[in-house]
Amino acid sequence: MSDSDASLATALEETPGRAERYFAEAASELSLRAARAEFLGKKGHLTALLRGMAEVPADQRKAVGERVNVVREQVEHAFEARLKSLRLAERSAALSGRPEDLTLPARFGTPKGHRHPIASVRDEILDIFSSLGFEIAWGPQVELETNNFEKLAFPPDHPATDMQDSFWVRVEGAPENQRVLLRTHTSNVQVRQMSTRTPPMAVVSGGAVYRRDDDVTHSPMFHQIEGFRVDQRVSFAELKGVLIEFARRLYGSSTQVRFRPSYFPFVEPGAEVDVGCVFCTPTDGTRAACRVCKATGWLEILGCGMIHPQVFTECGIDAERYTGFAFGLGVERVAMLRYGIPDIRLLFENDPRFLAQF
Ligand code: PHE
Repeated sequence: MSDSDASLATALEETPGRAERYFAEAASELSLRAARAEFLGKKGHLTALLRGMAEVPADQRKAVGERVNVVREQVEHAFEARLKSLRLAERSAALSGRPEDLTLPARFGTPKGHRHPIASVRDEILDIFSSLGFEIAWGPQVELETNNFEKLAFPPDHPATDMQDSFWVRVEGAPENQRVLLRTHTSNVQVRQMSTRTPPMAVVSGGAVYRRDDDVTHSPMFHQIEGFRVDQRVSFAELKGVLIEFARRLYGSSTQVRFRPSYFPFVEPGAEVDVGCVFCTPTDGTRAACRVCKATGWLEILGCGMIHPQVFTECGIDAERYTGFAFGLGVERVAMLRYGIPDIRLLFENDPRFLAQF
C-alpha cells in the first residue's frame, strides 16, 4: 500500500465521525443542509477524496469504491439523524413556547363587507310589496321559450319578441320541441305560478334577467321585480292604488305618479308608470337643464297592466271568472336614480372603490 493509498484510507475512515460532529454544530435546518453539501456536494469533501481514486492501483479500486459508498451512506445517515432531532427540537419549542394570542385585534382593522346595492334595493322593493300582502316567489333564469314568451301571448316570430333580444341556450335533456333561453324578464314567474296554483294569489318575485344589450344604461344581465295579483273582480283601480302606494313608499310620500298607455302582449290594457323627477323641480330653473328626466319632469319606472285573458287561458285559469294585474320594474334603474349612478356597468364591475361607497 502506497502512502497516498494509506492517507485515502485514513481520510475515509475519519469522514463519518467528522461529519457527525460537524452536523451536530448546525443549529438550523438551513445550516445543516449547507454542512451536508460540504461533505456530499459536488465541491464537497467526499468528491475531493474520490479524486484520489485515480492513484489507487487497479486491483484495489473496487474495494475502495465500495468503501466510499459505505462512507457516503454513513454521512447521509448522520445527516438524516441530525435533521430529525433538529425538527423535533423545533416542534417541542413551538409546543412549549408562549401560545399565540388569537384574541389580539388585527393591526389595520378588519374591513367589513356589506350587501351589494342591487341586493339591498331588490330586498327593499320586495319588502314594500310583501307588507302590502304579496307573497315572495322565485323562478329559474334558464327558461323554456313557452314560459318566457308563448304563454305570455307573444305569438311565435311576432315582432314583439324583437323587444327582448334573447340569449338562446342549448340544454341537454330539454324537451325536443322546446327552445330554451335565459329569461328576458321575470314574467316567467307569473306563468309558472299561475300554471300551478288556483286564485286568489298575490305574488312578487325578483331576480336576474338577460337581454342582448350593452351600453351606459343597459347591461346584458340586469334585475327585475315582477308582481301580480289574480282574484275575482281585480280592477285597474286596484293596480293604480298598489303602484301609487309603492312609489310613495319608495320615493317619498309627496311623489307624483302618472300612468301612460303602453303595449305589452300579455296585458290589456297596458301602461307605463312614471314618477316625478327626483333630481329637478319645475320652478327653480333646474328642470330645463335636467339630463336625468331630459327636462320632461318624469322618470319611467315600470310597466304594468291587466293580465290578458289569453294568458289566463294558457295557464289554465278561467278567464271568465278571474281578472288580475301585473307589473314589472328594473332594479338597476331604481338604484341608479337613488344613488346617482351614471353608468349601469359600474354596478357589475365589482370594483371595491365603487362598492365601498354604499
Ligand atoms: N315584462 C315586462 C318587461 O320586461 C314588464 C311588464 C311586466 C309589463 C308585467 C307589464 C306587466 O318589459
